[in-house]
Amino acid sequence: MKTVEINTATCSSRVICGEGAFNENIPALCRDKLTFTVTDSNVYRIYRPLFDDIFAKSGAVHVIPAGEKSKNYSVLLGILKAMLSSGLKRNSTVFAVGGGVVGDIAGLAASLYMRGVHLVQVPTTLLSQVDSSVGGKTAIDLCGIKNIVGTFYQPETVIADPMFLSTLPAREVRCGLGEIIKTGALNKDIYNKLQQNKEKLEDADFLKDIIYDCIAHKADVVIKDERESGLRKTLNLGHTTGHAFELYYKRKSHGEFVLIGMYYELYIAVRCGICAPEYADSLINLIKRIIKIPAYADAEKACLMAAYDKKNVRAEEISLMVPAKIGQPEELRLPVPKYASIIAECAAQLKENRL
Ligand SMILES: NC(=O)c1ccc[n+]([C@@H]2O[C@H](COP(=O)([O-])OP(=O)(O)OC[C@H]3O[C@@H](n4cnc5c(N)ncnc54)[C@H](O)[C@@H]3O)[C@@H](O)[C@H]2O)c1
Repeated sequence: MKTVEINTATCSSRVICGEGAFNENIPALCRDKLTFTVTDSNVYRIYRPLFDDIFAKSGAVHVIPAGEKSKNYSVLLGILKAMLSSGLKRNSTVFAVGGGVVGDIAGLAASLYMRGVHLVQVPTTLLSQVDSSVGGKTAIDLCGIKNIVGTFYQPETVIADPMFLSTLPAREVRCGLGEIIKTGALNKDIYNKLQQNKEKLEDADFLKDIIYDCIAHKADVVIKDERESGLRKTLNLGHTTGHAFELYYKRKSHGEFVLIGMYYELYIAVRCGICAPEYADSLINLIKRIIKIPAYADAEKACLMAAYDKKNVRAEEISLMVPAKIGQPEELRLPVPKYASIIAECAAQLKENRL
């Protein structure tokens, strides 16, 4: 078990990760407190005894429907109303037990209720353990725009226990690997570990080890740039194009779209002369081990929607974080039509099996 501290000017947060983290910490965190636990229908079904034996003994357990579509205003309102009717006080603690969806919406509710109550994140997917539970970003979607309403609100504690990964469907493991490969494109040591272990990316032992590395990388970035005014933008690698495809095509999950977005953005980085083809290929080979990249027929149209991604400064220009050299991402700004036409070119090459 390892602990990563995140101390910034405005917050103090700790991430405890590794086997045993849940059993050794959660009962004590619930003791003598009024708690409010948010989870989703899948996690509740699989881990019912944990909720009955631990969380339900110190407060209400609120179950939201599983899946991305729950990140909306009416589900948020339902959580806030349940908090009120459960008698939650300012010194109470909210537990977010689930994947990134539960973490994002429960974190937002915790930041709003009584102007902020204590928050503990218990991430149960690989993606949420390596990425979304750390760093304090909370959000819901609105009017078809992803994560457009949210707050920065640091959890006091994050408990990332790999025991939850044993029940995770293989597809969700692959989604988490997307964020791990993204972190590999930002961090030389993680990149090297991925290259050395590319045959066993989905092995439980490899994942346990790399989860800590990814958390430590993200913590370091958050300490330096909590509010995403500079360095933290690097964590959005692959996300601009991924979000555009996610909005347009919908059918895959967030992590899968991040992987696809990374692939298309690597094509752009090579095409614009920022990334050497050999380095891009080494990342692409990892991505292709995990997912088949679709040759989207409407890629250009979908990416014009990226102009609405809130991470972009001006609508006529797209800002992308792309890998330049190992461990060195760079910002690339492109006029929207040029960006969309290179994406279309990539899709056309994929369709003709030329990539
Ligand atoms: N806040 C941030 O910094 C940040 C960063 C990255 C992603 N995100 C957000 O995270 C979300 C994606 O997170 P996710 O991939 O965890 O999705 P998710 O929360 O929808 O979980 C994926 C699926 O796995 C199920 N599940 C969760 N834990 C399980 C377990 N232990 N065993 C079996 N099934 C389990 C869920 O019920 C769900 O069906 C997106 O909404 C994305 O925008 C936020």
